[in-house]
Order: sequence, then structure tokens, then C-alpha cells
Amino acid sequence: MKIFLDTANYGLIELWAQTGLIDGVTTNPTHLSKESGDPVALIKKLCALLPNGHISVEVTEVAPERVYTQAKTLAALAENVVVKIPCHSDYFPIIKKLVDEEVQLNITLVFSLMQGVCMSKLGVLYISPFVGRLEDLDVDGVSLLGELSDMLDQYDYETELLAASIRHVRHIHAAIEAGVDIITVPPTVLATALNHPLTDRGMELFAADWKKLGIHTFP
Ligand code: G3P
Repeated sequence: MKIFLDTANYGLIELWAQTGLIDGVTTNPTHLSKESGDPVALIKKLCALLPNGHISVEVTEVAPERVYTQAKTLAALAENVVVKIPCHSDYFPIIKKLVDEEVQLNITLVFSLMQGVCMSKLGVLYISPFVGRLEDLDVDGVSLLGELSDMLDQYDYETELLAASIRHVRHIHAAIEAGVDIITVPPTVLATALNHPLTDRGMELFAADWKKLGIHTFP
């Protein structure tokens, strides 16, 4: 399973990149609005930092023909840019055109099985269901992950399932159980998922017991 970081913060991405665990980054207009400086320069820096990872960058235009042009411009920023486009029917014709032109797309704001089926049918690279935002409405976002995963297997689509809007460690575990290809996780949630108080406690106990021996050089 691949792990993407759901942030545009260069410092945090640089830190996590050193762990070797990070396969890509998903940004969106909200993430970029929290960072200072030129967003284009930041995107290029992120693409250079993770040259083998996919960096998702979302369109900000609204009219379909402008979204199409912007998607082409974003894709030309670096080879590893994946263009995020909302799953809205106004954009289906340009999504199809961009797929035919081999632009790598991450279809975002996916909230239903049928949206997922249709985007996979168009041949996009990723579909991103938003688990947390469904749960905000008291809808079971985790079940949607399982349904989308089964659907992709059933029809043998090549589109990859990218679980987004991951708010808690339990969302990560549910996404793994659903068999998603990728989870995109905020750095704070990833840190919480990887640390465990019993690991800390175990290290303290081992260190205390070892100290009792009074050995300074080992081996
Ligand atoms: O990748 C999309 C994700 O960032 C949305 O998360 O928490 O704003 O619903 P959230």
C-alpha cells in the first residue's frame, strides 16, 4: 500500500520523505492557502523533493474549458504532477479528453459508488473518496471504500483507489482493511498512527535494565 502525505507543507514533507515511507503528496487549494510564497514554486520544489512520487495539484478554475487548459499547464510543471479535478458532471468531457491525452488525473471529491465507477470507466489514474467528509454528514464513509475496492476488482479497472479525508487512525485501519491502493494522510494523523505508548515504555524498560549492567561499550 502506498502512503501519500495530505499537506502542502514543505518542511513536514521533507522530514517525512527521509523515512522512506512516503510515496507522494496530495495538495488542494486549502493546503496551498496555508503556505507562504508562490504556490507554483512550492509545487515545483515538492516535485523535485519526491521525484519518484506523485504530487497531486488541484485545478482552481471553474469553467470546463478553463479547467482543461489549466490542467494541461499544471501537468507541464513536472512529470510527476497529477492533476486533481472534482468529480462533477460538467467536467466529464474534459476528463475524458485529458485521459486520452495521457494527462495523469486524480478525481477528487468522490462521494458515491457510481461516481467511482464512471471515473474508472474513463480511465483516470486515481479516484479519491473523502471518508471524513461523508462521516461529517453521518454517512458511512468507510463502507464506500470497501464498495469502491470491490468494484475496481470486479470490473478489472486500472484506476487506483486513493482514500482521502482521513481524519483518524481508525480511518487508516479501515482503509487498509478495505484494500485501498493508497491512503493520503495528514502528517499529524500519520505520526499518531506510527507511535505507540507501549513502544516508548518498552524502550525505557530495556534501557533501564541494560544500565544495571554498568557496561559502557557494547559490543
Ligand atoms: O485530500 C483531501 C483531504 O485533504 C480533505 O480532507 O479533512 O479537509 O476533509 P478534509
